[in-house]
Amino acid sequence: MRIAGKNYKTIWFNEKNNLVQIIDQTKLPHSFEIITLSNIDDAVKAIKDMKVRGAPLIGGAAAYGIYLAMKENPSDEYLKISSDKLIDSRPTAVNLKSAIDIMNRELQNINIKDRHEVSLKLAQKFCAEDEAYCKNIGTFGKDIIERILVEKNLDTINILTHCNAGWLATIDWGTATSPIYHAIKEGIKIHVWVDETRPRNQGASLTSYELSNEGVPNTIISDNTGGYLMQRGQVDLCITGADRVLNNGDVINKIGTYLKALAARDNDIPFYVAIPGTTIDQDNNKITNTMIEHRSSSELTHMKGLDDKGQIQKIRIYPEECKTLNPAFDMTPGEYVTGLITECGIFESSEIGLREYYSAAEANR
Ligand code: MRU
Repeated sequence: MRIAGKNYKTIWFNEKNNLVQIIDQTKLPHSFEIITLSNIDDAVKAIKDMKVRGAPLIGGAAAYGIYLAMKENPSDEYLKISSDKLIDSRPTAVNLKSAIDIMNRELQNINIKDRHEVSLKLAQKFCAEDEAYCKNIGTFGKDIIERILVEKNLDTINILTHCNAGWLATIDWGTATSPIYHAIKEGIKIHVWVDETRPRNQGASLTSYELSNEGVPNTIISDNTGGYLMQRGQVDLCITGADRVLNNGDVINKIGTYLKALAARDNDIPFYVAIPGTTIDQDNNKITNTMIEHRSSSELTHMKGLDDKGQIQKIRIYPEECKTLNPAFDMTPGEYVTGLITECGIFESSEIGLREYYSAAEANR
């Protein structure tokens, strides 16, 4: 999608210079910087430091991380060490594991001398597939938007989203935003309520930034405002992404998603979760503590922004001795989710719904 009128993806292989490049998302929205990942440790650090973030993009960065590792040393041993390092880089987004599993499965059958070349093709394929999945999510999700617009006889539809599940969280298109971008292309009038998403503000810093760059009308709201707007009839639809959908349909996503789903249920507002299949955790149907990332207290105690001279500054906003708790994700039970918008269609967020998804995905293969 576009930044200042120019098309980008979030991660790409620069064929001319033989480099893996990313947009450094920690610098957005104040500064747009492209950086290079030169080796496996760069890839691990980019994921850990959230230069790349968002479940599908973490998967894409991990696939390229394996390529960078195979470029250095294509041995079985190094493949294992590199895969373990990547797996440990962030705990919640299951796309990371999906990417590592796919890369390992394919590379195990490849002669060591060919692994460098093949792993690049595999990483590119993984990312191209993610892009295609997100595009399909958009066509299915657009139908939901159109239906609500007609049913409610609206001129403009108001959609609320949480965190960043836009193209910056994927390779392109986004999950929650893909239906929005597809609908806008067809002339449907949309306004998006963007949850700020404390403490790292991915909504305000990334979602609003990318929507504005695509010309989509949007308004940043504090995380506590959604319920107020829902009660006043100012939200027609909620769409979020997810970091992990458990096999029973429970959805793990950015902290605060659960409260929005509760408020949506109380106000009869459809609450959809948009995901590619790589976000489904087929091995687990129960949340465990290790699935929820707990992040540094400095995310709460400090704020980053521009000073009067336009320089980025970090300031402390709470006393040094204050105690904090900072879980980055929460779990929304599947029963609060109206449906999962996937690359294969829309499914109930339940064990039965996911079984139907698996059959559809198999048939599409
Ligand atoms: O901590 P982040 O920025 O990686 O969290 C991102 C989210 O929670 C997104 O909503 C989620 O990954 C869905 S991405 C399409």
